[in-house]
Amino acid sequence: MTDSSALTIDGNALAAQLRGDVAQRTAALKTRGLTPGLAVVLVGENPASQVYVRNKVKACTDAGLHSVLEKYDATMTEAELLARVDALNNDPHIHGILVQLPLPAHIDANKVIEAISPAKDVDGFHVASAGALMVGQPGFWPCTPYGCMKMLESIGYDLRGKHAVVIGRSNIVGKPMAMMLLQQNATVTICHSATADLKAMTLQADVIVAAVGKRNVLTADMVKPGAVVIDVGMNRDDAGKLCGDVDFAGVSRVAGYITPVPGGVGPMTITMLLVNTLEAAERFAASHGLASV
Ligand code: GUN
Repeated sequence: MTDSSALTIDGNALAAQLRGDVAQRTAALKTRGLTPGLAVVLVGENPASQVYVRNKVKACTDAGLHSVLEKYDATMTEAELLARVDALNNDPHIHGILVQLPLPAHIDANKVIEAISPAKDVDGFHVASAGALMVGQPGFWPCTPYGCMKMLESIGYDLRGKHAVVIGRSNIVGKPMAMMLLQQNATVTICHSATADLKAMTLQADVIVAAVGKRNVLTADMVKPGAVVIDVGMNRDDAGKLCGDVDFAGVSRVAGYITPVPGGVGPMTITMLLVNTLEAAERFAASHGLASV
């Protein structure tokens, strides 16, 4: 029987609380005549993407936001998609634009992302958003690492002077995660597939964020007792069950805090998309002479 010592950070509970806050702020904005709006654009029939976008639109509707889902055939040209993005950039009812990735191979995803107005870039993928995060200017933070920061905040964790190890260097999780931890005065190490001795790094860590997309990247022997472990992974085990990058059963006997999969970072990602969309609408209101809320 497992004598789990780590406390679990419940992503579902925290997401529910934050979505309640979003619903309240949305209602307040609506009384001033502005409904926050998110446009989700899906090109092609990727089955996982179809589930993701449906969940994003539903989460918006549940919190009282306006949401439109634009679905296009995989044959859509890059020029047609860029024209849609341009139209959404100029649509006053839309405050956030999300183009679901991956896009079909004939479309340059970077070109499409860079066409989104940074003021509506609620995914935080635009180079302007990445640059703003890098230099500590206001902008939109990518939803998954932003959600991880909220999880650390929820346990009152003070990152100042702590050693944080991020495993993974993707543009949408690893790199922005490192920047956010640095902004909170952690000492940050980014590990990746070419890291010589991952265990030597993680054993020094007070906080570990695993964002690789591979099972059992982090096992109990790699974790310092009491460390906080955030699992961004979304994988399937041999039985087809959803699991993260972390060996949950083993690591939870050593760590101080741990996030489960499912029910950890996952629900936080869509929540932060709602937060970013609401924030975009509030900024729109402020810059268009609507009283701030
Ligand atoms: N595909 C998988 N995750 C995401 C996401 O967070 N945003 C977008 N735009 N596409 C994705």
